[in-house]
Amino acid sequence: MNTAGEAVIRVKDLVKNYGGRRILDGISLDIYEGETLVVMGGSGCGKSTFLRHLIGSLRPDSGEVWMFGKNIAEASEEAMEGIRKKFGMLFQSGALFDSMTVGENVALPLREHAKLDESIVRIIVKMKLELVGLRGFENLMPSQLSGGMKKRVGLARAIVMDPKIVFYDEPTAGLDPVMTGVVDKLTMDLTKKLQITSVVVTHDMNSVFRIADRIVMLHQGRIVEIGTPAQIRNSKNPLIQQFITGEAEGPISFVQTSDNYLDHLTTETA
Ligand SMILES: Nc1ncnc2c1ncn2[C@@H]1O[C@H](COP(=O)(O)OP(=O)(O)OP(=O)(O)O)[C@@H](O)[C@H]1O
Ligand SMILES: [Mg+2]
Repeated sequence: MNTAGEAVIRVKDLVKNYGGRRILDGISLDIYEGETLVVMGGSGCGKSTFLRHLIGSLRPDSGEVWMFGKNIAEASEEAMEGIRKKFGMLFQSGALFDSMTVGENVALPLREHAKLDESIVRIIVKMKLELVGLRGFENLMPSQLSGGMKKRVGLARAIVMDPKIVFYDEPTAGLDPVMTGVVDKLTMDLTKKLQITSVVVTHDMNSVFRIADRIVMLHQGRIVEIGTPAQIRNSKNPLIQQFITGEAEGPISFVQTSDNYLDHLTTETA
């Protein structure tokens, strides 16, 4: 990782509101080539929303997201088509199609975006499944896989187009500690071996400190702090300390609403 190197993603003053509520409140951030950047923060603080702006599936109310020389906050659908070929996304649920085999799921982006011979597609699928430790599983259906295997198939699909950047939303949610370690190691291997830039949203503090080159902590739609794992671990910020130690009491509240509770109870509408 080289933070003095080139920024592959530049986010400038990103703002997003939902129904009058500000979800992203002016986020500015550079992501550097070859680094693993972990995005952490309490539930509902805007992590997935932030990620969806980075992949262009949401448009901001204001601000810019530069990737591969284009501001994807206002890129045309045609330009987005080209940009989508250069990054992969591992969705929170794995998002496999249940009616397709493992092989068909992994091959999907190739069949959508690349005009390759069927024999080449099959070879690429085998190579990607080998990378995630699932060689020979092409013909199984997703329903025949464990949660950890589904995540790994999702990862094989995310890298099938040889992306420069991979985005992960909670890649280890719901996995046991061993499978979490396996997925973390895969993320690290892919980042190092294939020189991929990784942007990982996770709650899992073990994963965070295992995989991150840099960590960015979000709270109420803003960046609280950004730094190396050591800098974050030693941060004096109570928000960060509460997050690391998992204390229920502290500046991070599990209550999501800003309404006054008494007012809320006594008004007619829900
Ligand atoms: N499509 C939407 N319409 C309205 N509000 C939304 C929408 N998507 C997200 N929100 C709101 O935006 C806030 C941030 O949601 P987001 O999913 O980004 O949180 P998160 O940090 O990923 O949380 P978690 O850790 O629980 O996945 C939440 O308050 C949520 O209710
Ligand atoms: Mg989320």
